[in-house]
Amino acid sequence: MKYNNKQKITKAVIPVAGLGTRFLPFTKTIPKEMLPILNIPSIEYIVKDAVNAGIKDIIFVTSARKKALADYTDSYLWLEDELRKKNKIEELKLIQFLPKIANYIFVRQSKQLGLGDAVLKAKYAIGNEPFALLLGDDILLNNFKNITNDSILKNLINSYQKYQSIIVLLKKIEGKEIEKYGVVGIEKKIDQKNFLLNSLIEKPTFKKAPSDLAIMGRYILEPKIFDYLEKEQIDPNTGEIQLTNAISKYLLDKNNVYGVLFEGKRYDMGNLLGFLEANIDFALNDKKYRKVFAELLKEKIKNI
Ligand code: G1P
Repeated sequence: MKYNNKQKITKAVIPVAGLGTRFLPFTKTIPKEMLPILNIPSIEYIVKDAVNAGIKDIIFVTSARKKALADYTDSYLWLEDELRKKNKIEELKLIQFLPKIANYIFVRQSKQLGLGDAVLKAKYAIGNEPFALLLGDDILLNNFKNITNDSILKNLINSYQKYQSIIVLLKKIEGKEIEKYGVVGIEKKIDQKNFLLNSLIEKPTFKKAPSDLAIMGRYILEPKIFDYLEKEQIDPNTGEIQLTNAISKYLLDKNNVYGVLFEGKRYDMGNLLGFLEANIDFALNDKKYRKVFAELLKEKIKNI
């Protein structure tokens, strides 16, 4: 069946099956996606970004020990009643927010076979339509003035509507840091923000990196990608099925792949420093805490 690729993109996949080893022992029982930025679990920022871009159905690719995340997407009626009784309306709104804004579907990835395998697990929930992929570790922000209504994913969807092929988000990365990412080669710069790509390589050495543009954790994928993922072998070095390799093969089959440049700030919630930095920045930009937290920080820095 041919799908209509002019159709709206309403489904997003968010892989959340990772072990979160860098956050042990916290992640022994609590998913790393529940790590908060201030009082909000980081996953809520990711879901909000998706919903702001028009996504209705979120497919979480999950694993054991992720119960807290599934519970978090559900309504807690007894807690809502308690808060109502105590007239805590702001708190009530906070706990109702995530369950209300989207439909949540959970599929399991029982073996840790990497991002490519995680996406493949969403195949039946996605069906034959283009979809968004958002990686939970990447909290992206254009600027703090626009936290709630700015959607980076929306830009990718706009590019998809124009080019009707796979779109990846790109960010310029300085020096050897590039070795931590999927890196793209540029065939043509279409305009300030849009690029036609000619290669994608997962975590190349600095010398072999085809550019300084790395793939960030946002993609628009076509359902055809599932055929490529099904054929993809487990990489013997990493034990994983690489999504980047599948997109690369899709490109080599004479399909266009595009990159959209992102020039804002990225917080890597996959490591402790990124998590700390996100909390500091969000606190310094929070209406309620900005002043008092800045004072506290200044005091601490004096003593370093
Ligand atoms: C994944 C992708 C990589 C991408 C990165 C962005 O890698 O495989 O291409 O650049 O996310 O965060 P991971 O960080 O899961 O190893």
